[in-house]
Amino acid sequence: VGKETINTEIVTLSRYLSEEQAKHPEATGDFTLLCHALQFSFKSIAYYIRRASLINLSGLAGSSNTTGDDQKKLDVIGNDIFIAAMRSCGRVKVLVSEENEEAIVFDHPDARYAVACDPIDGSSNLDAGVSVGTIFGIYRLKEGVKGTKEDLLHPATDLVAAGFTMYGASAQLVLTMKGGAVNGFTMDNALGEFILTHPDMQMPKKRAIYSCNEGNSKYWEEPVKEWVESLKQAEKPYSARYIGSMVADAYRTLLYGGIFAYPADKKSPKGKLRILYECGPMAMVFENAGGQAVDSKMRRMVTVVPEHIHDRSGIFLGSYEEVQKVIDIHKKHG
Ligand code: AHG
Ligand code: MN
Ligand code: MN
Ligand code: MN
Repeated sequence: VGKETINTEIVTLSRYLSEEQAKHPEATGDFTLLCHALQFSFKSIAYYIRRASLINLSGLAGSSNTTGDDQKKLDVIGNDIFIAAMRSCGRVKVLVSEENEEAIVFDHPDARYAVACDPIDGSSNLDAGVSVGTIFGIYRLKEGVKGTKEDLLHPATDLVAAGFTMYGASAQLVLTMKGGAVNGFTMDNALGEFILTHPDMQMPKKRAIYSCNEGNSKYWEEPVKEWVESLKQAEKPYSARYIGSMVADAYRTLLYGGIFAYPADKKSPKGKLRILYECGPMAMVFENAGGQAVDSKMRRMVTVVPEHIHDRSGIFLGSYEEVQKVIDIHKKHG
């Protein structure tokens, strides 16, 4: 065999999910079925993303969504795929998507889960071939609730699982359960399987990389300006890395360390990123990987309750010590 060492200890996502379920004898298998439907949607979205420019799927759909974003054709395709997968698994009662103004309630009376999703994150980058992704959060409905959009107005501390899939050089899935480890899976296109490649991801405690859109600095609050300036004036100045797809900036930050920030500012007082399907799930992943995530009031992001399903928040997300720097500067400003 050539250079490539054969990895015989292969854990596929399917095996991982079965092993997780086996740890909970009381499990009904519903969560596993829901995760298989998620897995299918990632495989299917990855397929269309990679063929987009070949089958004229790039460009605008000619519509916009409730948060005012121009919808790309792939926003709509990705959304349709995700909704179909969540409906057909029969385990989801209510689904909130960035691309739908209202929550989607499925006709599955005994379904126990609510899902929030950003089917294609970073879609403004799509036509440029830059990595985009899908972000998701899974809530378990309380016994006896009907399952309406209000059931999603919960903080990320109530999520039973969260994660994202980045469609980059390869499709990378990052998945974490409440209070659990963060596990990374890489799609092996030959096998058509997600393979566990990054077990128990732990973030570096610090790293001199910052990631934010400095084009907004004119609108930033004072503490944010002081924080970024302190990074530029550091003994060893920080590197700037900003892709403009949250999933790609987050995945790099998770792996290399550093900090990603999209602060609320004078132009967007509530911030730009949406709590339910961007800030919350990402904050849970980062906390479970040993990092921190706070909003623009320096509250733990996972404790922030969205006022409505498309509510937004400022966010600082990254290595424990890098986020602590932001908190300390805000404390100084009182
Ligand atoms: P989406 O494509 O799902 O609407 O999200 C876009 C978000 C996020 O992916 C990224 O971090 C941010 O928009 C970039 O915003 P700016 O272009 O204002 O920097
Ligand atoms: Mn959008
Ligand atoms: Mn997004
Ligand atoms: Mn999106």
